[in-house]
Amino acid sequence: MFDSKITKKLISEEQIQQTVSRLGKEVTEHYTGIDQELLVVGLLRGSFIFMADLVRCIELPLCVDFMTVSSYGDGTISSGDVKIIMDLDTSIEGRDVLLVEDIVDTGKTFSKVIRMMNNRNPNSLKVCTFLNKPECRTADVTVDFCGMDIPNEFVVGYGLDFAQQYRNLPYVGVLGE
Ligand code: IMP
Ligand code: MG
Repeated sequence: MFDSKITKKLISEEQIQQTVSRLGKEVTEHYTGIDQELLVVGLLRGSFIFMADLVRCIELPLCVDFMTVSSYGDGTISSGDVKIIMDLDTSIEGRDVLLVEDIVDTGKTFSKVIRMMNNRNPNSLKVCTFLNKPECRTADVTVDFCGMDIPNEFVVGYGLDFAQQYRNLPYVGVLGE
C-alpha cells in the first residue's frame, strides 16, 4: 500500500470537510460587502488541495492565483531562507488578498511572504492556513483564519508532502520512521 508508512491517522476526511466548510463560512462572512472581487493566493505546492476545496466553500466573487516559494528543500526542517520560485501573475496593488497556506510551522515562510506581499501595497492582506503548529512558532505571524491546531509532529496528506510524496493521501497522517 502506498500509505503503509503512515503510523497514525490524525485528521479524517470527514474532519477535513467540516474544517474547510467552517473556514469558507468565516472567510465569506469577513469579506461580504467588499467592493471588488477577493483575490485568493495559494502557496504551492502544499496548498493546492486545500485551496481547491476552500474556494468552493467561499460564497463570493473571487479570483485565484498561485505562487511557489521554497524554504524546505527535501528535508523536514524549515531553513527560513524563503525564495520566490514562481511569482504571481496578478498585480495585488489595491486588491483584497487572502493568502492560503497548507501549514504554519515556525512561521518563517508566512512572515517572509507576508512582508513581500505587503510591499506590493494590497488594499488588505489576510492569511488562512489549514493546519497550524503553535508549539513551533519562532516568527511573529498572526493567522486570521485557522483550520486546526496540531501538535509538533511531521504530517503528510491532503496536499502536504514528505520529499514530494504523500500529497495525494485524502486524510492527514503521521509518517513513521
Ligand atoms: P514554516 O516556515 O516553518 O512555517 O514552514 C512552513 C512550510 O513548511 C509549509 O508551507 C510546509 O510546506 C512545510 N511544513 C511544515 N510542517 C510540515 C509538516 O508537518 N508536513 C509537511 N510540510 C510541512
Ligand atoms: Mg508549503
